Amino acid sequence: MQAKAKYRKDYRKPDFTVTDIFLDFQLDPKKTIVTAISQYQRLNPEATKLRLDGNSFQFSTLKLNGKDFKQFEQDGESLTLDLSQLNTTDFEVEIVTILNPEKNTSLQGLYQSGDGICTQCEAEGFRQITYMLDRPDVLARYTTKITAEKSKYPYLLSNGNRIASGDLDDGRHWVEWNDPFPKPSYLFALVAGDFDVLTDSFITKSGRKVALELFVDRGNLDRADWAMQSLKRSMKWDEERFGLEYDLDIYMIVAVDFFNMGAMENKGLNIFNSKFVLANPQTATDEDYLAIESVIAHEYFHNWTGNRITCRDWFQLSLKEGLTVFRDQEFTSDLWSRSGKRIEDVRLLRTAQFAEDASPMAHPIRPDKVIEMNNFYTVTVYEKGAEVIRMLHTLLGEQLFQKGMQLYVAENDGKAATCEDFVSAMERASALDLTQFRRWYSQSGTPELTISDNYDEQSAVYSLHVSQTTPPTADQMEKVDLHIPLKIALYDKVGKPLVLKHHDNLVNSVLNVTQSEQTFEFTDIHTKPVPALLGDFSAPVKLHYDYNAAQLSTLLRHAENHFVRWDVAQMLYAAELRRNLTRHQQGKPLEFSADILAELYQILESYQQNVELTTLILTLPKVTEFAELFKTIDPEGITLVRDFMVRTIADNLKQSFLKVYNEIRLDTYRVTAGDIALRGLRNLCVSYLAYTTVGNSVVNKHYTYANNMTDTLAALSAATKAQLPCRDSLLVDFENRWQHDGLVMDKWFMLQATRPDEDVLLKVMQLMDHPSFNFNNPNRVRSLVGSFANQNVKAFHAIDGSGYRFLTDILIRLNESNPQVASRLIEPLIRFSRYDGQRQTLMKRALERLSEVENLSRDLYEKIEKALQ
Ligand code: TRP
Ligand code: ZN
Repeated sequence: MQAKAKYRKDYRKPDFTVTDIFLDFQLDPKKTIVTAISQYQRLNPEATKLRLDGNSFQFSTLKLNGKDFKQFEQDGESLTLDLSQLNTTDFEVEIVTILNPEKNTSLQGLYQSGDGICTQCEAEGFRQITYMLDRPDVLARYTTKITAEKSKYPYLLSNGNRIASGDLDDGRHWVEWNDPFPKPSYLFALVAGDFDVLTDSFITKSGRKVALELFVDRGNLDRADWAMQSLKRSMKWDEERFGLEYDLDIYMIVAVDFFNMGAMENKGLNIFNSKFVLANPQTATDEDYLAIESVIAHEYFHNWTGNRITCRDWFQLSLKEGLTVFRDQEFTSDLWSRSGKRIEDVRLLRTAQFAEDASPMAHPIRPDKVIEMNNFYTVTVYEKGAEVIRMLHTLLGEQLFQKGMQLYVAENDGKAATCEDFVSAMERASALDLTQFRRWYSQSGTPELTISDNYDEQSAVYSLHVSQTTPPTADQMEKVDLHIPLKIALYDKVGKPLVLKHHDNLVNSVLNVTQSEQTFEFTDIHTKPVPALLGDFSAPVKLHYDYNAAQLSTLLRHAENHFVRWDVAQMLYAAELRRNLTRHQQGKPLEFSADILAELYQILESYQQNVELTTLILTLPKVTEFAELFKTIDPEGITLVRDFMVRTIADNLKQSFLKVYNEIRLDTYRVTAGDIALRGLRNLCVSYLAYTTVGNSVVNKHYTYANNMTDTLAALSAATKAQLPCRDSLLVDFENRWQHDGLVMDKWFMLQATRPDEDVLLKVMQLMDHPSFNFNNPNRVRSLVGSFANQNVKAFHAIDGSGYRFLTDILIRLNESNPQVASRLIEPLIRFSRYDGQRQTLMKRALERLSEVENLSRDLYEKIEKALQ
C-alpha cells in the first residue's frame, strides 16, 4: 500500500493557478468526452513543473497554447508538464479525457444516478473528470458547455447563469453556462436528466429577484414543496440574522437518489440526496421535515461560508463546515425550539463525537495529518467544529459575534481562508484575547471538568473548585489547558435562582475556565445553593460533579435552563443503568428507583407546561448513548438493563401514558411546532404502552388510524421493538404499500435491522435480496447494514463474531464499488478497544482479514492502519 499522508504544516502556496476554464462535455452514460481548456498563470517565476491531479479516466490528448504537447510525465494520480521551455507567465492548456459515468459506482466525479448524470466533486472528485490543480486555493471562472441527447436529458445544468443553448440535427442539444464567481474545482457541478421542476422566486433585501428551481424525479412534484419553502425561509433568515444576501440570479437544487452524503453546496447548483428534499405527510416524518429544512439551510448558508469564502486547504475544512453547522443550528433554533434543538445536537455530540474522540480516528477539528480527505468529513469537524464557533458566540455575545462575522466577510470575500483568519477577525472585533481559545483548533479529545464546591454559612461565601484535564487520544498524547466557557446558575432549595455576585460586583453566569485548577467565589449566598452546571452545554466537555438526589430533584423541577432539566434526567437514567448493570453482573435482581418513577410521573402528568420538554425528558437514552458512559462496553448487559428500564417505566406509568395518549387529539396533519410536539408526546406514549398489556391493541389501532408517516412509523417501530403479535402483519402491510419507493422503504429496512429478535442477522442477510434493496445505493446500504452495525449493538457484537464477519463481507464488496461508503461503515469495527478481550480478538481478526484485501482503498487503509497500530 503506497498511500501517503499529507500534513497541514506542509502547506505551500501553489506555483501556478487557473484563472478561467472552459469545459466541454459530450455526455453519454458509457462514453463521455470532456475537453478542458484552461488559462494558467505562473505565480512562482522559478517554477517549471506543473503537476496536475487526475485519476480514474482515460487520458486522450494534451495541448499547450494550441499545439500538441509531449513533455509530460504521468502516473496513476497525476500528470506533470515540463514547462522549462515556456517563457510566458500566462498560457493555455487543453486536455481531452474520456469518462464512463455508468460504471462509476464510487459516486464521486461524474456518475450516473438513476436515469440522470451528475457530479460530486468535493473534496477531490474533480480530478476524476480531468487533470486539474484540484485544490481549494485555486479559484477560477468556469464556463461549461454540455451536449447530450435531448429526449433522455432535456435538462442540462451547471453552475451560474445559462448563457446560450441550441439544438443539433442528430437529436442532441446543448446548453452553455457561465459562473461569474471564481471558485475552486470542488464547487463545480453538472447535472443532466429529465425532471419535474418546481419554480418559485425570492426578492432579496436589496430588491433583486432570484429564480428558484427545484428539480426532482418525474412524478415527485407532490413532495417538493417543503424543500422550496425551506429554501425561502433560509434566504430570508440569512439576510435578517447575518445580513448576508444571495448573489446570483438563479438558485437551483437537484434531488438525486444515488448520493454519498446529505447534500452538496455547488455554486448556484446544489445537489441533494433525495432523502433531504422529498417530503409529503404520507412519506416523511416530522423528523424528516426538520432534517430537510436544516440541510437545505445548511447548503444555502454555504454560499457565504464556504463558497464566497472558501478553504485555503482541506485541513481548514471546519472553517466552512463548523461555521455553517453553527449557522444552520441557529436557523433551526430561531424558527422552532431553541432548547429542543440544543438537546438534539448535544445528544449527537455526546454519542457520536465523544466516541470518535475516544477512537483510533481521534483528530482535532483542524486535523494535522490526512491520508484520505473523505475520511475527515466527520462529527468532529462538523459538530465539534460548530461547538467551537458556539463557544466563541457565548464569549462574545451576539452583537460582537456579528461584528466579527462582518469583519471576516469583508476581509476574506472571494478568497481561500484559514481557521486562523476567522478567529483573528473575531478577536479584533471583540478585543478579547483568544490566544488560549485557539487551542480548541489544534487539540483533540474530550476535556473533563471535575467540580467540587464548598459553602461557608458564616461568611455566606460559596465556592466552586473547577479542575480540567483532557485524557490522551490516539493521535495526541500531550494535552494542554483550554479556555472553557462554563455557564452556571445557583438555586436555593425551593428552586429560586440566586444572584451571582462577588462582593459588590455582579458575576457573569459564564465562567472562564482557563487553568487546570481554579476556584470561583460567590458572596452573599445565604443558603447552601444547588449548582446548575454547564447550562446550555456551554462547552463540549464531560462534567463530573457529585450531585445528591435532592439536588437533582430540585434542578429537574426548577432549573430555568431547559437543557439543564433534560441533562439532570440523563444523569438519573445513567445512574440507574450503572447500578443495575452491576446488579445484573452480580446476578442480583434489577430494581428501579421509586423516587425517579415518582418524578417521571409528575412530569408526565403536567405535560401541558411544556409538551416538547416532557417528551425529551421521558425519552430513555438509546443503547448507543448509554454505551458512551463506559470505558468497556457490555452490549448485552446494557441492552438488557435498558429493556428492563423501559418496561418498568411503562408498567408504572401505564395509566398516565394511556390518559395522555387519549387526551391528545390531532386530526389534520400540520407541520407546526405545536403539533410536532403533541405528536411526539403521543407517539412516546405509544412506544411505552407497547410494552404493557394494552400494547397490541393500542399499537394496532394507532397504525390503522394513522394519517401520516410520523404516526405510521411510530406504531410500526413500537410493534417491532416490543415484538408485538401484530408486528409481522404491520410490517407486511407497510412493505406492500411502499416497496416501489426506496426512500420510504429505508425506514422499514432500518426497523428490520434493529429488531431485538435473536435471528435478526439472518433477516438482514435475506433482505439484501429484497426487490427494494440496491447495493449500489448508499441510502439502502446505510439503512440496512449501517443501522444493524451501529444501532443493533447487541446483535452486531454477538459473541460468536457473526456480526463482525457479516460486516467484513460487506466491506470487502464496498471497497470495490464505493470506498467512501465503506469507510463510514467500518467505524464500529475499528472501535474494538471499547470491548472485552474476546470481542477485541474477533474484531481485530476481521480487520486483519480486510487489510489483506487486494486494492484496498485509501479510505479503508487509513482507518485500518490506525486501528491496528
Ligand atoms: N460539503 C458538503 C456539506 O457539508 C458535504 C460533502 C462533502 C459531500 N463531501 C461530500 C457530499 C461528498 C456528498 C459527497 O454540505
Ligand atoms: Zn457543509
